[in-house]
Amino acid sequence: MNAIVVVDRNWAIGRNNALLFSLPTDMKRFRSLTTGGTVILGRKTLDSFPGGRPLPRRRNIVITRNPDFTREGAEVVPSIQAALERSAGEDPDKLWVIGGGSIYAALLPRCKAVFLTQVDAEAQGADTFFPDLNTHPDWEVAHTGDPITENGFTYRFVEYINQNHQYNI
Ligand SMILES: NC(=O)c1ccc[n+]([C@@H]2O[C@H](COP(=O)([O-])OP(=O)(O)OC[C@H]3O[C@@H](n4cnc5c(N)ncnc54)[C@H](OP(=O)(O)O)[C@@H]3O)[C@@H](O)[C@H]2O)c1
Repeated sequence: MNAIVVVDRNWAIGRNNALLFSLPTDMKRFRSLTTGGTVILGRKTLDSFPGGRPLPRRRNIVITRNPDFTREGAEVVPSIQAALERSAGEDPDKLWVIGGGSIYAALLPRCKAVFLTQVDAEAQGADTFFPDLNTHPDWEVAHTGDPITENGFTYRFVEYINQNHQYNI
């Protein structure tokens, strides 16, 4: 499995259960990479989507501790382990961890790559963060894209690879 995430200079990813940036080219890339695959996400990230609806044209596996939680179009599971069991058998390259902070932190060791969108800015008031991969011995930059400027922000696509990857999914 892989993770995909947008971070600022401080590895911030969210504020008040919303994204920090609106980046159309990044969104398009996210759609193109994940469409047709499976996404694993936390209940709060699901709630942050328009209308709280799961992402179309993707299998959505949503993790919550609430046993009564249901959402049309989403497969709801009670734990990280249950999400892994549910997605076993999927093509690992089409299995995407899409957040938020708590789910990234839990599943990062299982990820083979992180598709990072690195925004050259410092978001104010951020309350959710991604682990800093530059201080983590397992992770190395495999590719850094050219800068893109959009909506007043400059950003790059950076791919990190897990040097200690030992899982099938
Ligand atoms: N920048 C990006 O690329 C990006 C991507 C995605 C999300 N985000 C941002 O991240 C923020 C949300 O992240 P978050 O960490 O607050 O929330 P989250 O990870 O999306 O969801 C947290 C919820 O997931 C459930 N959960 C988490 N760990 C669990 C476990 N071990 N077992 C069972 N259920 C578990 C719980 O749901 P219940 O409370 O229902 O039990 C928990 O409250 C938002 O600001 C969002 O916009 C950013």
